[in-house]
Amino acid sequence: MYSKFRSLLFSLEAEQAHRLAVGAARLAQAVAPRVIESMFSYSHPSLHTSIFGKQFTNPIGLAAGFDKNARMILFWRKMGIGFMEVGSVSARRSKGNKKPRAFRLPDDRALINRMGLNNDGAERIALRLKRHAGILAFPVGANIAKTHDPDIQGDAAVEDFCISFRTLAPHVDYITLNVSCPNTSDGKTFEDPNVLDRLLVALKKERDEFVRRIPVLIKFSPPERDSFVLDSHFDELLLVSLAHGIDGFVASNTASDWQNLTTSRTLLEKIGNGGLSGPPIEKRATQLVRYIFQKTEGKLPIIGVGGVASGEAAYAKIRAGASLVQLFTGLVYRGPGLIPSVKRRLVELLNEDGFGTISQAVGRDA
Ligand SMILES: Cc1cc2nc3c(=O)[nH]c(=O)nc-3n(C[C@H](O)[C@H](O)[C@H](O)COP(=O)(O)O)c2cc1C
Repeated sequence: MYSKFRSLLFSLEAEQAHRLAVGAARLAQAVAPRVIESMFSYSHPSLHTSIFGKQFTNPIGLAAGFDKNARMILFWRKMGIGFMEVGSVSARRSKGNKKPRAFRLPDDRALINRMGLNNDGAERIALRLKRHAGILAFPVGANIAKTHDPDIQGDAAVEDFCISFRTLAPHVDYITLNVSCPNTSDGKTFEDPNVLDRLLVALKKERDEFVRRIPVLIKFSPPERDSFVLDSHFDELLLVSLAHGIDGFVASNTASDWQNLTTSRTLLEKIGNGGLSGPPIEKRATQLVRYIFQKTEGKLPIIGVGGVASGEAAYAKIRAGASLVQLFTGLVYRGPGLIPSVKRRLVELLNEDGFGTISQAVGRDA
């Protein structure tokens, strides 16, 4: 069914197609939630897992960027997703970069985007989340980033993150700090140990004042190579994160350097710059999961994301050290049917290896 709808979507410009898909999903969640559930939901006891003291019916989640503004929560729940991450959300509402800013690379089943953190802003999104309080029924995280404005720098940038934290933390199960967005207006990320340190000092104060202990994760960029082994810069980032009591990691964001592509140079030159996602970044994202798992001795949960388009790819992330896995680009190419298909295959793969639960497989190849 999705293949027909996909032909229509792929005849449109990528962002227009996304808007149409979101519209269709919102309509479906309003008029036929039971139908979606009966068509797509699939559950199995071996997929159940518990992370940060939260129960997940399955480890397959929606990555940040797909439902930035928290408009389709019910739809994702009915689709049988195990958890979702809204955002990136910034303190102030932002339109993001000029369009076009999202591009499909069908030959690689990949995407390139330079959305530039377009979102409705922390307050509106918090209100939407508040409306779902009590009926969420699955863990929801908020991914926060600095407002897309080159004038917000230094202390103001740190405060910008703090505002989003304060506004969203009461309504979500975890917070992810997007310190690795490759599409900021000033071209900078927070992946500098000193800058990250300042941010985490300020956020620790916020966390200490907050009524409950909310898990805070950090989302990093993928390494430059598939064969990433050791990187002292990355080690410093990890050390800073651990020193400030970070609860887990998300690996990884899109890649601003493009590799493993068969797409023609002419098309790539026409696109310009942006973050690459999908199968071409799968190996490096998995390698980063493995590296973090090894360095932290498997003590902190890792969400694996990057190029997952099959049960095998999700399982590879889990065996490398991911406790949870997220989808984005795979959903664009395979449609929402990817969710039950990944879950079914995961159950088979766990079974073949003699594991009764996801947690038994985590880090087996690390
Ligand atoms: C169009 C688009 C928008 C995205 N927006 C965000 C975002 O706002 N915040 C974020 O942390 N990651 C964002 N991402 C990155 C995804 O969450 C994910 O880390 C990345 O795409 C790799 O996963 P994938 O290969 O399954 O797509 C975006 C990705 C795409 C393709």
